[in-house]
Amino acid sequence: MTGLRQIDPPEHRYAEQLELLAAADDGPRPPAWRLTPRMVVTFICGSAGRKVKGSRGGQVIETKFVGERALIERCVVTLAGERGLLLAGEPGTAKSMLSEMLTAAISGTSALSVQGTAGTTEDQIRYGWNYALLLAQGPSPEALVPSPVLTAMRTGAVARLEEITRCLPEVQDALVSILSDRRLALPELSGSDDGVIYAAPGFSVVATANLRDRGVSEMSAALKRRFNFEVVPPIADLDAEVALVAGQAKAAVERVGAPYQVDDAVLETLVTAFRDLRTGVSAEGWEVERPSTVMSTAEAVSVASSIGIATAFLPGPDPLSLVPGHLLGVVRKDDPADQARLLAYWDGPLRRRAEAGGRLWRQLWEQRDVLSA
Ligand SMILES: Nc1ncnc2c1ncn2[C@@H]1O[C@H](COP(=O)(O)OP(=O)(O)O)[C@@H](O)[C@H]1O
Ligand SMILES: [Mg+2]
Repeated sequence: MTGLRQIDPPEHRYAEQLELLAAADDGPRPPAWRLTPRMVVTFICGSAGRKVKGSRGGQVIETKFVGERALIERCVVTLAGERGLLLAGEPGTAKSMLSEMLTAAISGTSALSVQGTAGTTEDQIRYGWNYALLLAQGPSPEALVPSPVLTAMRTGAVARLEEITRCLPEVQDALVSILSDRRLALPELSGSDDGVIYAAPGFSVVATANLRDRGVSEMSAALKRRFNFEVVPPIADLDAEVALVAGQAKAAVERVGAPYQVDDAVLETLVTAFRDLRTGVSAEGWEVERPSTVMSTAEAVSVASSIGIATAFLPGPDPLSLVPGHLLGVVRKDDPADQARLLAYWDGPLRRRAEAGGRLWRQLWEQRDVLSA
């Protein structure tokens, strides 16, 4: 038996669901796919309250990605066509989550993954060597250490490339030939049958890119052409975002063994503040000066979780009183001047809401001191 895991990959966490979905549809599926494209979309977007029939009576599939179904359909179609998929967007819009869910559903594993950093090397995209074996026997297939991408090529799986734009251009270029030729030459083994590895049908790549990082625009034209781009937007609907934040914060608090006791009204206030500062305009249409930090849903989840954990473990003031301090922590990450922008938000929209009689807003207004410290 495996022990407990801090983070369970989706193929394990949703193993039962994936099995049900695989059995539920006997329609045609692309080579090496575990599920039909339709069932991949259902896995990610949910079954809209209807039961997916299975041997044990079936199950309702919950929504995992909050957003347009059409976006997910386009992603799935791209991969079904064996094209590369690039998910671009602001940080914290669930690009990584989507790439994990897509690969877990399609290939049964989200683990064939390379994290792009300034230090990512070509070996991590192509292959390396087990040097002990290499020295003992010379180059041989046994001494080869395949990268996750190479393993995906061999098995017809979908590989993940996180934050591709953070990789150096020569590393990005290694991908161009893989994605265009769908084969990888191993010069060390040339002349033998193992000298070239051909991608098995089904192979593709999901890459993610943060629009805030050194740009997607700096990707080479050659590489861009090999991907279909999909921009993942922040959650459009307030209620949907509140529900998501509440659900995830509750799970985070319960994971550390504490009861979840944060009111939805408090979360709605928190999420509203996040959305105002993210979009630069309040729900009422008032202008808001945006901080340079990205006020993402993922950040809102982490603040809500912290507030939930604090409330459970350190009983004291009410949860709402923790909001200003946490907001300041988020906002101040990039630019000290953002503190002034948060204060301006307090003195503008937030104050007007307090004066209009919003109880929670008035409580927040009364804590303005926290921000000016
Ligand atoms: N549209 C969304 N649907 C579901 N969860 C979301 C959404 N947007 C943000 N999240 C939450 O934010 C978390 C962080 O997302 P992540 O995949 O790390 O973002 P990114 O890779 O875009 O920076 C997700 O695990 C999820 O909890
Ligand atoms: Mg990410």
